[in-house]
Amino acid sequence: MSQNKKTFYITTPIYYVNDVPHIGHAYTTIAADCFARYKRLKGYDVLFLTGTDEHGQKVEKAAREAKARPIELADRVVKRFKDLWERLNISNNDFIRTTEDRHKRAAAHLWQKVKANGDIYLGEYEDWYCTPCETFWTETNLVDGKCPDCKRPVEKLKEPSYFFRMGKYQDALIQHIEANPDFIQPESKKNEILSFLKKEKLRDLSISRTSFSWGIPVPDDPRHVIYVWFDALTNYLTASGFPEGSETFNRYWNNQDGEVLHIVGKDILRFHTIYWPAFLMSAGIKLPTRVFAHGWWTVEGQKMSKSIGNVVDPNEVIEKYGVDQLRYFLLREAPFGNDGDFSVGALKGRINGDLANDLGNLLSRTLTMIEKYCEGKIPSFSNNTSVDMQSEMNIKNRFPIDVDRHMNNLQFHLVLFDIWSVIGSMNRYIEEAAPWKVYKEGNKTKLNNILYTLCEGLKIIAIYLYPFMPTTAEKIWRQLGLKNNFDGMILENEVKWGKDISGTKVCKGEVLFPKIET
Ligand code: ME8
Repeated sequence: MSQNKKTFYITTPIYYVNDVPHIGHAYTTIAADCFARYKRLKGYDVLFLTGTDEHGQKVEKAAREAKARPIELADRVVKRFKDLWERLNISNNDFIRTTEDRHKRAAAHLWQKVKANGDIYLGEYEDWYCTPCETFWTETNLVDGKCPDCKRPVEKLKEPSYFFRMGKYQDALIQHIEANPDFIQPESKKNEILSFLKKEKLRDLSISRTSFSWGIPVPDDPRHVIYVWFDALTNYLTASGFPEGSETFNRYWNNQDGEVLHIVGKDILRFHTIYWPAFLMSAGIKLPTRVFAHGWWTVEGQKMSKSIGNVVDPNEVIEKYGVDQLRYFLLREAPFGNDGDFSVGALKGRINGDLANDLGNLLSRTLTMIEKYCEGKIPSFSNNTSVDMQSEMNIKNRFPIDVDRHMNNLQFHLVLFDIWSVIGSMNRYIEEAAPWKVYKEGNKTKLNNILYTLCEGLKIIAIYLYPFMPTTAEKIWRQLGLKNNFDGMILENEVKWGKDISGTKVCKGEVLFPKIET
């Protein structure tokens, strides 16, 4: 970890432990992993955080139903999340649980700072409460008397409660969003939040509960526990080394040159772009740089739900189709920010088309020719050809710039689209250059140039694929006979065309993507 590297702190939501992970959780985490890996390749000092949200009424209730103590339920479910992240090759540097002491200290400290600023007062709260969503709703918010989010019944709740002076921050929030147009992405979501803030007067927010006890006690008044969203949002500070003063906190959070990015689903955008910045403003802490809200996955056209019984377990998809296949599908199928539909047909189509036909065949054809015509070694390239092969394959010029722009906008599908247009050009190049004819003609120099160019192209696209499909990238390099390890690799040093790879013994191995029967 070098002192002068730029820092990049990226987070996923911390997931509730009342249920096991599904494809939606996998999606957010894979996206964050892809971006974290890319930033590392670009030389950033990356802190990538995921974790679990373990307090609150919802978890307490689930534990009761499971006849377990809340912490026992949490321990069990946390293992499921950690195991899945390992299988999916998630490269998080930290995993936070809100039941850890470091987090309890941080949440209490944030509370005290907000209170010291005069923004917390004791009152009494009464409203319609949706337990599954942990959210209070006003009468006018309800739809047919039910929760507007999950459509489940709500109950009237009245209890002593501490309140946060949310209304005080309404204007400051609007100003911040207008002055920082990238604070909320995508643009449509920014507009949604802005128009909400301009239309509705923000009510003060109830931030403590007395009706249950599974939570972090309010400092100086332990009859109350801290509201689960105040507790949960603080996790991002905890893992960055909060309370202030620590070297880590100054590096990853309190750093004008560093970026802090929260990736969330659209369901929790308001919590992250209204509550969270308001708490931080009150405590006098720097706000995150960006909050990106992605869209929602349905399954075969239907909302994913336990009652329909169509919840997709990522473990099953991995077993049947493979890790990189799932990572690729999720990031290619739907533009990040839009909703997507998960269907077995679409997944198989991507695997057989993009992965097996386009990419897998490109590698295997190239290596077969190297074995056949060059005794299994990547030939050398002579600069006496009139054709600029790199431009021919679109790999030079705009490609790295476009990829970088799309990546920084979290437009993963466009990055993949760009990579696949290079793959397409390479496949066309094989057809047009027809190395088998060149071999028959006996033009060894030309043949060597063609095959060298293909290997160089494959080496480079593997680097760009690495954030999306780390194992596949490593397999491609291994089959090309290249030994380097992707950990610690700096993209700019490796994608230079003509870093000589000739003489390397290729090692044609397993098929990258076996075809799936349709
Ligand atoms: O909300 N499509 O946790 P949670 C896409 N603990 N993404 C989905 C999805 C779907 N169908 N379903 C879930 C919480 N997600 C809080 C967060 S953060 C301080 C506290 C993903 O377990 C998406 O990222 O309900 C969504 O925001 C998150 O899971 C909600 O996870």
